[in-house]
Amino acid sequence: MLNKQILRIIGVFIFFDGLFTLIFGKKFVRLFRFGQHSGLYRRAIEGLLTWPSWALRAGAAVEAVVGMALIRKAPMDAQSLYRFFARYYAFIDPGWRDWFYRRAHSTYDLEIASRLSPGGDVLDLGCGQGANLSRLLDLNVPFGSYTGVDLSPEMLAEARKKFKGQSNVHFQHLDLEKDPLPEGQFDLITSTWVFEHLEDPKQVVDKSWERLKPGGAMVLLFIISTDTFISRLISRIYPFFSARLIREDELQAFPGIQSIERFFGPLGELVLVTLSKPIE
Ligand SMILES: C[S@@+](CC[C@H](N)C(=O)[O-])C[C@H]1O[C@@H](n2cnc3c(N)ncnc32)[C@H](O)[C@@H]1O
Repeated sequence: MLNKQILRIIGVFIFFDGLFTLIFGKKFVRLFRFGQHSGLYRRAIEGLLTWPSWALRAGAAVEAVVGMALIRKAPMDAQSLYRFFARYYAFIDPGWRDWFYRRAHSTYDLEIASRLSPGGDVLDLGCGQGANLSRLLDLNVPFGSYTGVDLSPEMLAEARKKFKGQSNVHFQHLDLEKDPLPEGQFDLITSTWVFEHLEDPKQVVDKSWERLKPGGAMVLLFIISTDTFISRLISRIYPFFSARLIREDELQAFPGIQSIERFFGPLGELVLVTLSKPIE
């Protein structure tokens, strides 16, 4: 058990080190330039920086593949994954938010701000450390209440720490696929970067739809599979992180689709989907 855990941690570390070096090259390696100049570690880093860029990236590709092979020997379920990542999430989250999919996230901001009327109640499915709550606060959206639900106690603990003392903010531990959603009706139900972890996202959308007030909206952000090389490659990597790409036909089966916007990036095609519930 412990061996699997160690293998997994080493695998994840090696995989991401390889992946980020592959993407960012020497810029990423320079981040590790610390310690005494004469020390073995520092000399190894300086040595790497003398490599031609193509050789560094080729080495990084091999490293990522080795990391992947180790993770494959000890795959993680979502709960173990976020138990491990909770400590590092704040550091890696800007990767996809501000670098890979910046335009998607600014479009998401506009969407939630325009969908929520003052005093509206918000439900965030798979809230993690409350990134979407930060957005609502930064955007000065005068929401009435915010409820964030998540499977990972460690992610929720970080969120609770961050938003301590906000009386209209609640966090709840639950499994979207197995547990009932919090009681009540919501004006805005949102979810970002979570559906990839669900076996049956349609089932979660259907039960959320029942919690949506007439006139309310669901704003969802997740990666879908497409018929491209990058999508096929990524669909092989995602399962190591207890995730998968959502199929287009699964998306098209959601109720009340009002708009779908697509954004291309290194983790695949991200869709921003708005579902709108008619006023009865
Ligand atoms: C990539 S994080 C995204 C967190 C947040 N929405 C954000 O945008 O930063 C995915 C989150 O989904 C949660 N999650 C995965 N499967 C879940 C499930 N079945 N029920 C509830 N939460 C789940 C994980 O615990 C994790 O916090």
